Amino acid sequence: MIGELQQLEKDALAELATATLEEQLLAVRAKYLGRKGLLTGLLRNIAGLTGEEKALFGKRCNEVKEYLTSKIEDALKLQLGRKKEDILLKGKIDVTLPGRFVPCGRIHPVIQVRREICAIFASFGFSVVEGPEVELDYYNFEALNIPKDHPARDMQDTFYIEENVVLRTHTSPVQIRIMEKVQPPVRILSPGRVYRPDSDISHTPMFHQMEGLLVDRGVSFADLKGILTSFLKKVFGDKTTLRFRPSFFPFTEPSAEVDIRCVMCSGRGCRVCGQSGWLEILGSGMVDPAVFQNVGYDPEEYTGFAFGLGLERIAMLKYGISDIRLFFENDIRFLRQF
Ligand code: DAH
Repeated sequence: MIGELQQLEKDALAELATATLEEQLLAVRAKYLGRKGLLTGLLRNIAGLTGEEKALFGKRCNEVKEYLTSKIEDALKLQLGRKKEDILLKGKIDVTLPGRFVPCGRIHPVIQVRREICAIFASFGFSVVEGPEVELDYYNFEALNIPKDHPARDMQDTFYIEENVVLRTHTSPVQIRIMEKVQPPVRILSPGRVYRPDSDISHTPMFHQMEGLLVDRGVSFADLKGILTSFLKKVFGDKTTLRFRPSFFPFTEPSAEVDIRCVMCSGRGCRVCGQSGWLEILGSGMVDPAVFQNVGYDPEEYTGFAFGLGLERIAMLKYGISDIRLFFENDIRFLRQF
């Protein structure tokens, strides 16, 4: 029986030597040391032995059991260590690999210009307000001193929604909406989308305008000139030359259009400025007393100036873009350049 025990120990060690996985090690343990294992089987035969043999055999069995138990424990520990190392190795980060490219969006050039202009006027103390794009005829025309049959309506072809509801053709109606709500002093800037049924190299049916309005006691044309000059020098550079040209708008009197020396040819004459050397930038003027009356301001007490400009036009001049339609085609190759 001692011989069988020795054989059992030898077999177990041999199997242990080839077992590497946790399941294999556990199987070896069950096979030799488990409750129904081979060692237990051997011990069952102890009944047929004499007292002395019993003691000796029992002792040997215990020794083998302890020895094998510790061997299997060691192997399990080793195996666990290897498993942890594997996990660490698999999770290892190669810090020398190049990073992954993260695609990054851009701010649309028109919005960039809008933000820039808002920031400039904010520094002059203007606040930014917005108005509806679907507008009543009253705000878009009537209250701005453009009655139904006035020829000035021809200046602005209009998308009609209903007889008295239009897609606003300019941002000027926001002037009326603000003056109806607040008393002077007023200093506002209103950017937004406007609509006119036009489409060619310099017109799209939807485009962006920015409206400005300043009303207070004692505001003069000199204030208009001062503010607009500082503004345009900030946008186009300190050396920009300006020209104020008499013009007509129903809601301002007197009215002026403001031109700058052509940024492409410095005034020599080119395709962009139509050989004139000047670029039309904005419309402006002193608020017409009739407009003040429409909102309940006393024209004897208050004066003010207003202006309106097209954001696409500014962006085209700033970035040298020759076709306005490019802004709205969403060609990623175009938009990525800004
Ligand atoms: N609303 C005019 C247009 O769309 C632009 C304009 C001209 C606005 C003169 C003004 C202004 O406030 O005073 O053509």
